[in-house]
Parts: sequence; C-alpha cells; structure tokens
Amino acid sequence: MKITFNLNGSSAEAEISPSLSLADMLRSQFKIYSIHLGCEQGVCGACTVLLDGKSVRSCLMLAVQADAHDIVTAEGVALLEGENWENIESTLVQSGAFQCGFCTSGMVVSLEEILANKALVTRSDILSRLSGQVCRCTGYEPILLAFETLLDAAHLLRKEQL
Ligand code: FES
Ligand code: FES
Repeated sequence: MKITFNLNGSSAEAEISPSLSLADMLRSQFKIYSIHLGCEQGVCGACTVLLDGKSVRSCLMLAVQADAHDIVTAEGVALLEGENWENIESTLVQSGAFQCGFCTSGMVVSLEEILANKALVTRSDILSRLSGQVCRCTGYEPILLAFETLLDAAHLLRKEQL
C-alpha cells in the first residue's frame, strides 16, 4: 500500500506492506539512522519520534499509521531548532549527557517535545519523561542537567520549592 506523510518538514511517500513498523520503514526506506532499535518492545525509548508533535515509540507503530501525519526525527529536530541546535549540541556535550550515544537521539526528540510545547516544566516533570528513556551509560544526572540548562535558557523551567 502507498502512504504519504510529512517527514522532517518535507513531503514523503512510501510503498509499504501493512505489517511494516514505522521504525523499520524510516530506517530502511528513508535512511533515518538516528532511530535506534534497542528493545523493539516499547521499553527503551531509543526509537522515539514525534508524531504530530507527540513522542511515540516508532518500534510499536505501524508505518501505515504515519499516513497523512507529521513525523519528526532527531534529524528534523536539528532543522526545527535552527540556530539553537548548536546550543543544544554544545550543552549536551558540556554536560556529559552522552557516552555511547545509543539513547541520545531519543533523548533529543523528547527534549524537542518539551521545547515545542512551550509549557513550563519542573525537574520532576523532566525526571518523569526520562523514566521512559533508557540510558545505560550516563547515570542520567548529566542528561538531567542538560535538559534543565536548555529549558532554563528557553524560560520553560519552573523551579520547585525544596
Ligand atoms: Fe522502541 Fe525500545 S526500540 S522502545
Ligand atoms: Fe549510552 Fe545513553 S549514552 S545509552
């Protein structure tokens, strides 16, 4: 079957089998290798993309569910953020927010969901989101620091009373 959708700001179409996952279609037909397949069971978050602005696990979705929708991957986040992308990259590096990098694109997509939503979030909100993104390397503190730094700079971090 044929589907058409928006991928990272450009129109796209694909000829797919009804059982193909969104992750497999994006990797095999569109060479979107930022999508990493860890668990393929919706647990690790390494395959996270935005579907109409909401983060979803692309390993759990069928490609056909993208028909007539907007998909943004980590590559698209760089385009969406424009000049701010360099700031995101350097903050991730300076915070030590990645080591092997397997989880990083999923983290970046989750970060973009918060940035694009423009609603205030607390440290607890960020922790709650990160609970769905598995990182085997960093111990999460550096990632949390990077998220807090970037959201603070975007005036989206609400400080909690201790
Ligand atoms: Fe999709 Fe782990 S590969 S959630
Ligand atoms: Fe290696 Fe997160 S940096 S899994």
